[in-house]
Amino acid sequence: LNGGGAFPNNEKHSTMADWIELAEKMYQASIDDSLDGSNIPTMWGTDAVHGHNNVIGATLFPHNIGLGAANNIELMEQIAQATATEVMVTGIDWVFAPTVATVRDDRWGRTYEGYSEDPKIVKQYAAAVVRGLQGTPGENFLGDNRVISTVKHFVGDGGTVNGVDQGNNIASEKELFDIHGQGYVGGLQAGAQSVMASFNSWHSKKNHGNKYLLTDVLKEQMGFDGFVVGDWNGHGQIAGCTNENCPQAINAGLDIFMVPTDAWKPLYENTIQQVNNGTIPLSRIDDAVRRILRVKHRAGLFDKPSPANRIYSGKRELIGSKEHRALARRAVQQSLVLLKNKNNLLPLSPKQNILITGDGADNIGKQSGGWTITWQGTGNTNQDFPGGTSIYQGLAEQINNAGGQAILSIDGHFDSKPDIAIVVFGEEPYAEGQGDREDVSFYRENKKPLELLNQFKEQGIPVVSLFISGRPMWVNAELNASDSFVAIWLPGSEGQGIADVILKDSEGHTQNDFIGKLSYSWPNTPTQSRVNKGDENYSPLLPYGFGLRYNDTNFLADDLQELFAQTPKELPPVVIFNGTTKKPWQLLLFAGEYQFEANSNVHQFPGLSYKTTDKNIQEDAFNIRIDGSVKAGVKIVSFSNRIHDLKSTTESTSALQFSIKLQSHPSDEVNLSIYCSEGESCGHSLNLTNKLSQIELSKWHQLTVNLSCFTENGMKLAQTISPFELSSSGPLNLDIADISIVHASKEYLSNSCH
Ligand code: BGC
Ligand code: BGC
Repeated sequence: LNGGGAFPNNEKHSTMADWIELAEKMYQASIDDSLDGSNIPTMWGTDAVHGHNNVIGATLFPHNIGLGAANNIELMEQIAQATATEVMVTGIDWVFAPTVATVRDDRWGRTYEGYSEDPKIVKQYAAAVVRGLQGTPGENFLGDNRVISTVKHFVGDGGTVNGVDQGNNIASEKELFDIHGQGYVGGLQAGAQSVMASFNSWHSKKNHGNKYLLTDVLKEQMGFDGFVVGDWNGHGQIAGCTNENCPQAINAGLDIFMVPTDAWKPLYENTIQQVNNGTIPLSRIDDAVRRILRVKHRAGLFDKPSPANRIYSGKRELIGSKEHRALARRAVQQSLVLLKNKNNLLPLSPKQNILITGDGADNIGKQSGGWTITWQGTGNTNQDFPGGTSIYQGLAEQINNAGGQAILSIDGHFDSKPDIAIVVFGEEPYAEGQGDREDVSFYRENKKPLELLNQFKEQGIPVVSLFISGRPMWVNAELNASDSFVAIWLPGSEGQGIADVILKDSEGHTQNDFIGKLSYSWPNTPTQSRVNKGDENYSPLLPYGFGLRYNDTNFLADDLQELFAQTPKELPPVVIFNGTTKKPWQLLLFAGEYQFEANSNVHQFPGLSYKTTDKNIQEDAFNIRIDGSVKAGVKIVSFSNRIHDLKSTTESTSALQFSIKLQSHPSDEVNLSIYCSEGESCGHSLNLTNKLSQIELSKWHQLTVNLSCFTENGMKLAQTISPFELSSSGPLNLDIADISIVHASKEYLSNSCH
């Protein structure tokens, strides 16, 4: 498999030839029986979740949340087929889609990967997408122009407590089937050949190890005869398992491990041993093998030419082809939901002087969201989308052609007063758990757009808001400040679809009316994240199915409750270390060229020694002693230096806070650093020597350093890889405890950075 952001040779701009070459090499190696006597072709899988999204130049369709709003089954089948075609150009056989989560709590970071909160849409769509990817049983099933599909993630991923990614679903079995299981009913009826097990638990038991769900329900009761693939080292999360060792998953019914790391080698050896010693019955292995071979056989992998020689292989003209882009553009048109339209401001005459502003206006990466070229969808520029169109570009073309004037001004300033301002703003891209939120307030995440909207309002300039988001969000203040407001979700690479709806043609006629309807209820308060049609006391701001058309009377006035925005609730602190290092962080020790994970009570190596010690309770702190021979210290980093978004869980007034006890005063510079990554490393170091020199020895002190000391000097919290590093080149002996990020407390707001 290639995960999100994985490319041949790690080269983002890999060509079609590079993709094909890799597919061909793997295939040839797999059918070469000279080494192991086996000539069974491989099957390469990819996350083509909104088009073939790892590939530069591919057509990027709107994410599923927008497609749900379009509520058009036929369109879904066409999109899936177009995606299959683009996937086959790169020699890939298998797609990890569709996601059929029925999303119940919009704080979940994967909300946008779901079609709806309503299992009805999910079920119908699952069937349509599987048909589009695989063809229809009895007609063109898994023909030369189709790929293998995966319905995922089985089961209940969209229904975890508090919307926590990979969390615990506590639905009753009936609810699990009626709400979360319907995508599998639709997908399996259409012939889906694989199902991906979910990271989540059901009643605290990880699905990857749940025999009842994987075998009794899915394979036996639901009659699924394809294979079950795991999710990314998901087996390692089963109680008693590690990534390297997990008979439990196989015995529960998993047929293919997704083990994308080096762990596959010990896992393979351990599995063989467990079959030999009877821990895993051979009949279970036979069953798994039979299922995999059955799917490969059905998909024609034994008969097809090699990846380099298939019907679409290397046909680069099919990647981002005119037809596919036209289809995506149509999907964008149909996915837009009009929430507010005071005085029938929309559709706009293109013959006016129109200011186009906001950080989403000319940003194809932002409008495409996560799972876009990279896993998180971050780190891309418009140049990474050859053939794509930003929202601004789409608007400008039509406005300029009609004799109007389109002026791009990201920050909103202008020289001559425009007739109208279009403000494009919203969420930054994210994927999976990095998109999990405490609540659904947009204002808390980004306060700038509201300022911009109010600025136009004060000057009497009518405002159209185009809101980019992966979930419905509480935007009451932004709605109040807008004359018209459109939820555009994550439209993908074909930004013209927006101009096609909100602008009249040059003769003054409506081009396309809005037809999108909310497939998720829209919240009335920042904490109303679990709001679903059919709830008792259902009271969203806008109900499921809402969506204005041009002839409808406007519904929302400018007086929605904004209170929360004025008195932001105190955010809970982000705990990084309190006795142990909290997920997703780990504690590293370094001295000169040595670097170790601090995973036992004592570590000693040249330059640095470390031991755990007590502050309030046993071993809730640690002591480090730097001898001054080399630069040394402690560093908290994310696992595998993965980017972690701290921006969304902090305010501009948040601060890094930790407890420290000095056994000696510094004799050389001491630095406190935090780091990020934007492809290249970034971050900032502060000189703490002055602060530490004033501290009384042998007593605990709490140090608080405003994050702005870092962010004003190049630290990007949204891309954090290390929230804490303390180092010195001189001798130093100190204890550290309780590292966290705290918010907006007046005492330290006046603190200086040094
Ligand atoms: C995701 C899956 C995805 C897989 C491979 C996992 O982390 O949960 O949806 O298919 O990675 O990239
Ligand atoms: C991969 C994703 C995967 C994720 C799981 C990333 O590095 O690129 O595809 O879903 O890890 O944690």
